[in-house]
This record gives sequence, structure tokens and C-alpha cells, in this order.
Amino acid sequence: MAQPITRVGIVGCGLMGSGIAEVCARAGYTVIVREVSREQLAAGLARIDGSLDRAVARGKLAAAERDAARSRIIGATDLSAFADCDLVVEAVAENLELKRRVFAELDAAAPRHALLASNTSSLAIIEMAAATDRPAQVLGLHFMQPVPVMPLLEIVRTFLTSDETLEAAQAFAARLGKTSVVCKDSPGFIVNRLLIPYLLHAIDALEKGIATKEDFDAAIKLGLNHPMGPFTLLDYIGLDTILFIADAVFDETKDARFAAPPLLRRMVSAGYLGRKNGRGFYDYTSQ
Ligand SMILES: NC(=O)c1ccc[n+]([C@@H]2O[C@H](COP(=O)([O-])OP(=O)(O)OC[C@H]3O[C@@H](n4cnc5c(N)ncnc54)[C@H](O)[C@@H]3O)[C@@H](O)[C@H]2O)c1
Repeated sequence: MAQPITRVGIVGCGLMGSGIAEVCARAGYTVIVREVSREQLAAGLARIDGSLDRAVARGKLAAAERDAARSRIIGATDLSAFADCDLVVEAVAENLELKRRVFAELDAAAPRHALLASNTSSLAIIEMAAATDRPAQVLGLHFMQPVPVMPLLEIVRTFLTSDETLEAAQAFAARLGKTSVVCKDSPGFIVNRLLIPYLLHAIDALEKGIATKEDFDAAIKLGLNHPMGPFTLLDYIGLDTILFIADAVFDETKDARFAAPPLLRRMVSAGYLGRKNGRGFYDYTSQ
């Protein structure tokens, strides 16, 4: 049996790291969150405060629970802060060289028994495991955005991840109140393996003039009961993010289902990134 998890480290307090820190603290874990500078740390902690406050305002969380959760989160800029962690989750930018460096640093900074996880969406977990001397204790924990809201956690095991590590990760997911699914260390894991070809196919069909984007969205929403049609979802996730994942999987597999259609590449080049900057397939500038 792996040692029970009580202290969780998070590397990076950006969009995902702040969400992961929040759900861990709300589940009762002590959380150490590390950023590269005091300014980045303050911005990340402010993001957590804002999210907790919104949960209270919406009646999803009592004010006392918010205060208790916040008191369990400790900010740090030094790697030595991970010295007592049982699990460290990496959520830095999607760059393999950076992630490999972070895993080598974590291998030295975290205790020997600690599990090391990556929240990557598109990189192979084994690449990070190979930067450590504990590959049996390395896995993927792929949270969905927004982390406090989405109920799924994809647990990714490499061919070197041990059964004990997997069991500890499943128990961790359950304590966070997430439903976990287990997947091999393979391109796109489960969700993106199915989602990305679907979204790319929608763009290709739009480019071919099969229907308008509004009609594609209405058809999928009303005909399949999806909460969003493909073009609303593309704008929500971010066209640059979709292109990045598609290219990463295509580079590794040469699988034509992940070949980005020209329209997507051109939109990203032109700065049409989706909701995040006000324009994608739809225009959000007046919202
Ligand atoms: N954004 C999404 O929808 C989403 C969904 C699932 C998974 N992911 C994955 O999560 C990871 C993080 O994505 P994000 O959107 O939160 O990125 P982000 O840019 O919002 O946050 C990354 C943070 O990491 C910090 N950082 C960089 N190097 C660091 C280091 N050495 N130590 C500590 N902090 C460091 C940066 O300062 C930044 O604040 C990526 O691997 C991404 O693929 C993203």
C-alpha cells in the first residue's frame, strides 16, 4: 500500500493549478502551492479567493467552509516547501522541456514515498516519469476545466506505474468527490482522443459549406442533447488550445483524424482564439 495522502503539493497556480488547489483544500487536504515569483503566487491565490467567494455567493459553499479551505492552502516560491508532501501535482505550461525539468526538481525535493503527477493534456506521462528515479510513482491526473465544477478526473498510468500508485490515485479522486476513469498513457487519453477528431471534423465540414455554424450547433445540441454544439465548445476551450493538442497528437501518431483543418490554423494565426479574447467562431466583444 502507498502511504496515505494528507499533504498535496501543486506546481503552478495558473488556471488549472489554482482550481486543483481549491478542490484539494475543500476536500480537507493541506495544500502547498508553488509559483515562480511572489507576483505570480499572489495572482494565483487571488484566483482561488475569487473562485471560493463565487461558490459562497452561489450557495454552493458555506462561508465557514470557504475560510477553512483557504486556511489549508500555503503559498510558496521555493521547492523545499514540498519536503513533506505525499503527492505533488504539476500544472505548469504545456511544454515538455519545462515539465521534464520540473519532474527532475520534484524528484529531488519531494520525499521518497511521494507520488508525482502531471496534469498535461497532450504530452506522454512516460517522458516525465523518465526524468525521475521513481517511475512507478509517476502518473497523469488530468483534471477538466473548470476544475471545481467538472466531475471527471482521468487517471493515466504508464507501463511503469505501479498498482499501489493507481489505487492511491483512485482513493484521492474519490475524496475530491470526482469520478475517476483509468486510461493508458496514450495520445489524448480518453476525452481528447474522442473530442479532438470530432471538433476538427466539425471545422472541416464548416469549411466545406455543409451547413452554417449555427445549424451545426443547433443540430448537436437539440439532436444529441449535448450542452453545447461544436463551435460554441471550440470557442469555450480556445482554438489555440485545440490546435496545440491536435498538433501534438498528430506529431506523435501521424493519425489523420488529428490533422488540423486549414481554417483552424488560419483563425489561430489571425488571433481568433475564442471566448478568451472575444472572438472565435462567434463574436463576444459585446458581452
Ligand atoms: N487550460 C485548460 O483547459 C487545461 C485543461 C486540462 C489540462 N490542462 C493542462 O494544465 C497545465 C497548466 O495549464 P494552465 O491552463 O493552468 O496554464 P497557465 O499558464 O494558466 O498556468 C501555468 C502556471 O505555471 C506557472 N509555472 C511555470 N513554471 C513553473 C515552475 N517551475 N514552478 C511553479 N510554477 C510554474 C506559471 O507561472 C503559470 O502561472 C498544462 O499542462 C495544460 O495542458 C489545461
